[in-house]
Formats: sequence, C-alpha cells, structure tokens
Amino acid sequence: MGGNVNRRADPFAGQLFTAAVAAEKSKMSDILPEVMAMAQTRTAARKRVHTARRTGRRKSNNEKIASREDLFKHELKDIYTAEHLLMEALKKLESESTNPELARAFAKHREETAGHIERLEAVGESIGEELEVEECPGIEGLLEEKKTFMAHKPTKEIVQVFNIGAGQKSERYEITSYEGLIELAEKLGFSVAVADLSANLAEEEAALKTLKTLGQKI
Ligand SMILES: [Fe+2]
Ligand SMILES: [Fe+2]
Repeated sequence: MGGNVNRRADPFAGQLFTAAVAAEKSKMSDILPEVMAMAQTRTAARKRVHTARRTGRRKSNNEKIASREDLFKHELKDIYTAEHLLMEALKKLESESTNPELARAFAKHREETAGHIERLEAVGESIGEELEVEECPGIEGLLEEKKTFMAHKPTKEIVQVFNIGAGQKSERYEITSYEGLIELAEKLGFSVAVADLSANLAEEEAALKTLKTLGQKI
C-alpha cells in the first residue's frame, strides 16, 4: 500500500488510507469492502457534481428546515454551490484582467477555491451529509449583475475596475457565510467542521485584502 497520500489536502483520502492500512495490518479482510464502499460513494458524488457543472443543471432543494442542524446543512450546501459558481467566475475574471498582478491574484484564488470545495466535502462527510451543487441565489445574483453591467459595453479598463469590486462583493458574501457556519458548527459541537470552515474563511479574508490593495493601485 503506497503511503504517498496528501492527507492534509484531502482529508477523505487520509481517512481512506488509514482505514486501508488498518485492514492490511490486522489482516481483517472484512474491513476492505467497507473501504471500497466509501470510495464508490465518493466517486458517485463527484460524478453528480461534474454532470451538474457540465449541463448547468442545478437541483433545487425543498427539504424542511426545522432545526439549527438543518440550517447548518442548508447553509453548507449554499456555500458549496457558491464555490462551484465562483470557480467558473474566477476563470473569467482572470481572462479579463489586463493587469498581470490582478490576473495572478484571481488565478491564485481559483486554486484556493478548489481547496475550499474539497474542505466543504470533508465537512459534509464528517456529519454524514453528501453535498451536491444546488442553488445559491446570492452568488447567482452577483453573476446576473455582471451580465447587466456588460450590456453597457464598458471598455476593457473599466471592466477590470468593475471586476475588482465584484470580486470583493463575492468575498464578503463568502466571509459572512463562513462566519455564520462556524458559529452554528460551534454550537452544534461539529469540531471537524469548525477547523475546515475556519481554514476557508482565512483564505477568503486574505483574498479580500489582496483585492482591496490592488484596487488602490490599479
Ligand atoms: Fe471560497
Ligand atoms: Fe473567495
């Protein structure tokens, strides 16, 4: 069994690796089917997300929300969807940046966003909730705002200035979402969630700071 698994970057891979090593060590071959089932569940979830991304089809969820735990799960799915939408948006923001420093900042945050998605999946797994791309009217509204703006045929230079502001708006949305989720997770005793959500929050705050600095310079 290879030990070359980045458990920090993908907590699920770490979990899987630890379980497989335990099965091998104890020669308890009956643990292996369980490990295989975990891997299959993960692959199926990924396939659904990729299909949703490819077709642009997102599920709407009408589950009843009657407790703080329900609210936590609802908010978790909202930010999970937001992060997927932002993966696409950041690619566009990078391509529209004539300033190389700004282009690099958007590219860097896109990489971080992929990590946010991974951490959110780990949070879902820690509470037995499989996340799917559903709806996020907040970020969808910001994307709509961009479309409306582009109808005014702005110059490339003005698009770039608009994008710095739009990027800050989405960071503030994410920051407030993560702060709310962390507060709920603390009250619910979801310690794994608190750690992963705090790691995402720190990167959103740093991204906002970078955009503010670049906004002053450009
Ligand atoms: Fe994010
Ligand atoms: Fe962000």
